[in-house]
Amino acid sequence: MNSIRDLNLTGKRVLVRVDFNVPMDEAKNITDDIRIRRALPTIQHILEQDGKLILCSHMGRPKGQRNEAFSLAPVAAHLAKILKRDVKLAPDCIGAETEALVAAMSPGDVVMLENLRFYIEETDNDAAFAAKIARMADVYVNDAFAVSHRAHASVVGVPANVAEKAAGNLLQTEMDFFHKAMDVPVRPLVALVGGAKVSSKLGALENMLDKVDSMIIGGAMANTFLKSQGVDMGASKTEDDLLDTAREFMEKAEAKGVKIYLPVDFVVAEKFAPDAVHKNVTFRDVPASWMALDIGPASTIFFQEALMDARTIVWNGPMGAFEMDAFARGTMAICQTVASSHALSITGGGDSNAAVKKSGESANISYMSTGGGAFLTLMEGKTLPGVEALK
Ligand code: 3PG
Repeated sequence: MNSIRDLNLTGKRVLVRVDFNVPMDEAKNITDDIRIRRALPTIQHILEQDGKLILCSHMGRPKGQRNEAFSLAPVAAHLAKILKRDVKLAPDCIGAETEALVAAMSPGDVVMLENLRFYIEETDNDAAFAAKIARMADVYVNDAFAVSHRAHASVVGVPANVAEKAAGNLLQTEMDFFHKAMDVPVRPLVALVGGAKVSSKLGALENMLDKVDSMIIGGAMANTFLKSQGVDMGASKTEDDLLDTAREFMEKAEAKGVKIYLPVDFVVAEKFAPDAVHKNVTFRDVPASWMALDIGPASTIFFQEALMDARTIVWNGPMGAFEMDAFARGTMAICQTVASSHALSITGGGDSNAAVKKSGESANISYMSTGGGAFLTLMEGKTLPGVEALK
């Protein structure tokens, strides 16, 4: 895989696929611009090399329809402020007007194409659509790690039509950190997995079993594992169709010598609400109509001990319903532990990153991935179509 540092960009039209799918509030203020900031090294490099910078991204899921609610206009304005230079938003991502705008660019100019997903051809990886975008570029750069698990036109179709292509700084950094943590880890390597559903992370759990020394499972997904071991989880969320799978997983882990840490106590509540009546109970005492919404203090200590010796930590998914303060303590304590650990620590996924942010420990995590689905795809041991397309 080429790096942009290997290419001569001077005077060239450099099309960069970024993932500027950033959260916004109702007034269209960007509430978290980390995906934009992480693309700055690539952007600045291209501008320093006097390239003509053409940025393209998706925003949300407008389902192939033009919809101003999904316009990249607020992102272009935000980037212009950061760069302190003009960022022109093209009226579209393809078409005569957009092509004319690109044709009129001078070295050092920045144009942002409008949302790629205004066309269903983007998600369909339509060849003609990809070719229309590709003809605006001399060089293609992928700096969109977070969407590189999607075989979409701008991720795989466009690079197939551009002779010179390379990975941007962000994509390269993400892949390097993941490689360090999962392929050549300093051991012990501990996986910390949480979140709502076993089903969405089954592939990742199975693959991780072959790589890690131990695995900590928290969040609602732990409920299914405990239930598979005969624990009565009361009214807690479980995936009953996966009880056999969970049981087999525990057996496989034992056969491989991978220690699985499950919660030994919980904060249980009468309902899923911030003001719900709640209390701490051991895993044997979950009342019939109550639900587990956080790991309890004994589990927190148990998990902290498991993390103490770790030299590498890969984390995806919170330990409980941390968005509600009453059920955030477990996840926050684990954030502090990971942050104060000397291990290489890598987190991925929107919820884990939001939890780390809430704990105020972002600066003390070795690497917070910008990917959700892409991070999980790597955890599943799969390759990313966007990375393959650069080879
Ligand atoms: C993300 O936010 O995970 C990426 O931007 C990909 O978005 P998608 O799940 O809509 O493809």
